[in-house]
Amino acid sequence: MDEQIEKVVDILLQAKNVVALTGAGISTESGIPDFRSPGGLWSKVDPGEFSIDRFLQNPGRFWRLSLNLKTSGEFDLASAEPNPAHFALAKMESLGVLKCVITQNVDNLHQRAGSVEVVEFHGNLLRAVCMKCKALEPIQNVEDRIASGQEETPRCLMCGGILKPDAIFFGEAIPSRALMTSQIQSQKCDALLVIGTSLQVFPAAQIPIAAKMKTPPATVIEINRDPSALHKQVTDVLVIGSASEIMTSLIERLEKELGETSTLQ
Ligand code: APR
Repeated sequence: MDEQIEKVVDILLQAKNVVALTGAGISTESGIPDFRSPGGLWSKVDPGEFSIDRFLQNPGRFWRLSLNLKTSGEFDLASAEPNPAHFALAKMESLGVLKCVITQNVDNLHQRAGSVEVVEFHGNLLRAVCMKCKALEPIQNVEDRIASGQEETPRCLMCGGILKPDAIFFGEAIPSRALMTSQIQSQKCDALLVIGTSLQVFPAAQIPIAAKMKTPPATVIEINRDPSALHKQVTDVLVIGSASEIMTSLIERLEKELGETSTLQ
């Protein structure tokens, strides 16, 4: 592993534009299950429950399912804390090594760890959005209204429209700003860190493909417990193991090379 860490450090120090793409695997050590590993969320809940069509058939039913997943601890984002992998990426940004994090996660842990440039590719599950007027509301307020029996189907306090968690459901479009920013970043980057994702869901999985297809191609560094579905096509350096352990070793080496407060130009 040390040899691989040295190789990754060299790549990151020589690169001029490093971007990170993260998935659920970066948050499992914060207590949030991923989706497709054994015991992951999709082994307990039908992914179809998270399709926009199913939501629109009965929004109240989804909200109760979501609240049960939270209160049972199966999928409780509110009590999760950032782990060393999240903090390492935030530190890389403050050292000037990393330009931005594109995350498929909806848990807000990158922002809470101090990352500033974060692209929420699949939205953010700590907010609810009105499907009519687009007003936003902290999801905790909505869950409180459901838990107290005040409303079956949560409604927007501004216009009475149906409220939906502000995460992207299967069958929904990626927010246009997030999609555009990610496309630009995948074209500009010369090194892409891919951390804790199986790369099985598009269009997020298109990001490393696009970074690889451009001229010159970006160098793709994959940090994963299991090789991703695209590792043979896109990955130049595959580091297998725990994201928090690997990212801790990485940031320790980078700080040694750069000093604590460097801001690379
Ligand atoms: N350290 C490193 N890698 C890990 C760790 C860990 N501690 N825990 C899990 N992993 C890896 C797994 O080996 C797997 O390759 O993270 C990956 C998680 O893959 P998925 O569960 O498929 O999650 P993700 O790739 O983020 O899913 C993408 O699918 O269900 C939708 O919208 C959902 O954003 C999600 C998208």
